[in-house]
Amino acid sequence: MDPYSCLVNREHPLPDSYIPEDLVFCEFPFAVSEPGEKRMLCRTAAEAGKRLMEYGKSFGCHLYGISGYRSFSRQKEIYEKRLAEAGAAHADQYIARPGESEHQSGLALDLSCPAVRLELEEAFAATREGRWLAAYAPMFGFIIRYPKGKERITGYAWEPWHIRYVGKSLALYLSLTGMTLEEYHKI
Ligand code: DAL
Ligand code: ZN
Repeated sequence: MDPYSCLVNREHPLPDSYIPEDLVFCEFPFAVSEPGEKRMLCRTAAEAGKRLMEYGKSFGCHLYGISGYRSFSRQKEIYEKRLAEAGAAHADQYIARPGESEHQSGLALDLSCPAVRLELEEAFAATREGRWLAAYAPMFGFIIRYPKGKERITGYAWEPWHIRYVGKSLALYLSLTGMTLEEYHKI
């Protein structure tokens, strides 16, 4: 199986010690300018992300990276913070537990835009950038990983800002069929 179609979720976690071998810094704008791990992705995803962002710019889209790669320990911090702030029911809808996040795979990227103050919120979907992203991400090998209406299958709330690199042909297939990665892996 090609490495980009891998399934990472509650049932298919990554080892605590897993770090992708080919992480590189992304060459497109991020909300934070410091070069931390969140600005990294696996090389192929980073290159596809750069092409996606450049093409978006030609449509007048102001997309910014918010969060790419996250180590196991960073995911643990994020999960524990949300758990303390909002409780388990909310945290488990939006934040994967450590080991269960595809951000640890280096293939997931959260994007936002100034129209929603660079926040990760549902309103992003209705912005020019959010609508453009949903339409064009598959051309660059990315899918909207947690779609509206598929919450019971993916196990997470709708996240119009979270894209996942799966390669161009699979992304186009999934976007045309409306299938999630979970459903694809059941075939
Ligand atoms: N927001 C997704 C589910 C994650 O934390 O990986
Ligand atoms: Zn995400």
